[in-house]
Amino acid sequence: MTSLAPVALIALLSAAAPPETPQALARGEDRMRDFCFACHVFEPGPGVTNPLHPRITPEKWGTYDQAYANIGNLSRIRPQMSHAFRGNDEDRQALALFLSKLGRENVVPWWRRALPYAGLGLAVAVAGAWFVGASRRSKGRS
Ligand code: HEC
Repeated sequence: MTSLAPVALIALLSAAAPPETPQALARGEDRMRDFCFACHVFEPGPGVTNPLHPRITPEKWGTYDQAYANIGNLSRIRPQMSHAFRGNDEDRQALALFLSKLGRENVVPWWRRALPYAGLGLAVAVAGAWFVGASRRSKGRS
């Protein structure tokens, strides 16, 4: 009996994340179109109130395990997502693979995070230049 324990453990571990084959990813994308797009639109745009892509964050969806758990728990993420996932476990695995890949790639680049500060810096520089110019002009007059 105990000799089976390592085998069971290996089976359990290897069940953790299926290989990221193009077939599995394509199936996952197809499941997303079929199920999530009943309510979501993929990219934000004019008139889009419920975009999906920006919400697949690396923090919440970045690993296969997170994505797999989330798919089974949509109503806990948002009560409005009241439809339980439709599909068998292979569909769910493929969708988790696809969404976790999206999540990992959904990292906001540092320069985009820095953009608001760049605007602020520019405003300070412009104000400073104006101020220096103004004090020079007033000196010239006196
Ligand atoms: C029955 C309609 C419906 C389906 C199906 C659905 N969603 Fe949603 N989802 C919603 C609504 C409504 C919201 C909340 C929108 C808002 O507050 O702007 C939401 C919000 C979300 C959010 C943001 C939650 C948060 O606050 O972090 C994520 C992520 C998300 N959905 C992912 C998914 C994924 C992935 C699927 C497919 C597996 C899916 N949804 C399927 C309706 C749905």
